[in-house]
Amino acid sequence: MSAALAGRRLLVSAGPTFEDIDPVRYLGNRSSGKMGFAIASVAAERGAEVTLVAGPVHLATPAGVHRIDVRSAAQMFDAVMGALPCDAYIGAAAVADFTPRAFAGSKLKKVAGTDTLTLELVKTRDILAEVAAHALRPALVVGFAAETDDVATYARGKLERKRVDLVCANRVGVGATGFESDDNALLVLGPGGFERALGPAAKTELAARLLELVAERLA
Ligand code: CTP
Repeated sequence: MSAALAGRRLLVSAGPTFEDIDPVRYLGNRSSGKMGFAIASVAAERGAEVTLVAGPVHLATPAGVHRIDVRSAAQMFDAVMGALPCDAYIGAAAVADFTPRAFAGSKLKKVAGTDTLTLELVKTRDILAEVAAHALRPALVVGFAAETDDVATYARGKLERKRVDLVCANRVGVGATGFESDDNALLVLGPGGFERALGPAAKTELAARLLELVAERLA
């Protein structure tokens, strides 16, 4: 196994976040965490010192990886910021964009005569953008973009808006690739019109190819 990342510190986020509504309910999303865990696993095999901040997933910790488990977007934010500095941040987590304004300490009950429930949501902090703007900004910041339509256009917008170095876009909601699958296809975009299609392939294979791009940029 090549040691292309020997001595490099990589910080990877993976999985969904769960935003609690009351003691028995939450808002979540369909991320399995497989892509982020594959990246952490392959990076450790290639000699990197890897910290993996994981949302709620049912996946084993890859060999040699330091794992920090979190539940909510706010906890993921704190764990990621607390793990800086590093050489590269790879934000593969599907962080909730919104969280309930207030957590109800007791289970919400149905109200007789009312057929609707209004939940007020507030924006979460954008971990990726804040890592990219941080005083301890890693040399390389990589984001993910899960899109259902116009993948390249939206992903290029994300690259510029969040000031990251690479965005890995994938199409979700179609066929055998995406969130819960073992396979995926990524379109990796960078500044200056850089564009590289990876896959379709197994997520471990995609992780290996993505980490080649990361290693080249850290060299
Ligand atoms: N992300 C993050 N913190 C958030 C939201 C997203 O770090 N609170 C990161 C994800 O880890 C991923 C990328 O941002 O790397 C995905 O962004 P996404 O939520 O799809 O992008 P938005 O800019 O919020 O755009 P939109 O919701 O319009 O798709």
